[in-house]
Formats: sequence, C-alpha cells, structure tokens
Amino acid sequence: MSQALTAAIVGQGYVGLPVAMRAVEVGMQVVGFDLDEAKIEALADGRSYIDDVTDADVRPPSTPAATCRPSSRPTCTASTSL
Ligand SMILES: NC(=O)c1ccc[n+]([C@@H]2O[C@H](COP(=O)([O-])OP(=O)(O)OC[C@H]3O[C@@H](n4cnc5c(N)ncnc54)[C@H](O)[C@@H]3O)[C@@H](O)[C@H]2O)c1
Repeated sequence: MSQALTAAIVGQGYVGLPVAMRAVEVGMQVVGFDLDEAKIEALADGRSYIDDVTDADVRPPSTPAATCRPSSRPTCTASTSL
C-alpha cells in the first residue's frame, strides 16, 4: 500500500522555514512545527519573518497539491494512521 509522505520540520526559523518551503517546492506535504505561536500565527496569516522567504512563499497555493501547514502543537507531527 502506498501512502504520501508528510515531512515534519521542527523549528521554523532561518534554517527550518526555507527548508520547509523547498520541500513544498519539490512536491512534499509539510508540517512546519514551531513552539513560537507568534511565528505560527504569522505563517498561518501568510506573513513571512525571514528575508529570504516572501509572503507569497508561505501562502497556501490555490491547488493544495503540496502545502506547508504551520502548527505549534507537538501532536501535529505524528500520524495515528501509521
Ligand atoms: N539573518 C539571516 O538571514 C540568517 C540566515 C541563516 C542563519 N542565521 C542565523 O543562524 C541562527 C540559527 O538559525 P536557526 O534556524 O537554527 O535558528 P532560529 O532561531 O532562526 O530558529 C529556530 C526556531 O526553532 C524554534 N524552536 C526551538 N526549539 C524548538 C522545539 N523544541 N520545538 C519546535 N521548535 C523549536 C524556535 O522557536 C525558532 O523559531 C539564527 O539564530 C541566525 O542568527 C541568520
């Protein structure tokens, strides 16, 4: 049985956020996890706080084939279907 892989990237800072965006670019589903709720709120609102990442980069695409879902809940990185 094949199942789409979801990458969980822990920490959405100077390293983690661009890595998350690159993973989306190559077609992966991504959970961007960070303990900082202000960062998660900004990402969920489509606002980037990293110079190299634009607001457009963090906005969900109109066709959600590959997305980055920001979250500050640790359980978001685990799947109960495994
Ligand atoms: N200015 C630049 O363009 C630039 C570029 C690259 C690197 N840097 C430097 O490199 C340093 C390292 O970058 P970085 O990305 O490793 O650090 P960072 O501080 O930018 O990001 C780390 C992130 O991880 C989160 N975090 C910490 N512990 C966590 C946990 N247990 N679970 C989930 N999230 C957690 C933090 O809230 C933070 O958002 C930066 O602090 C910065 O000084 C700067």
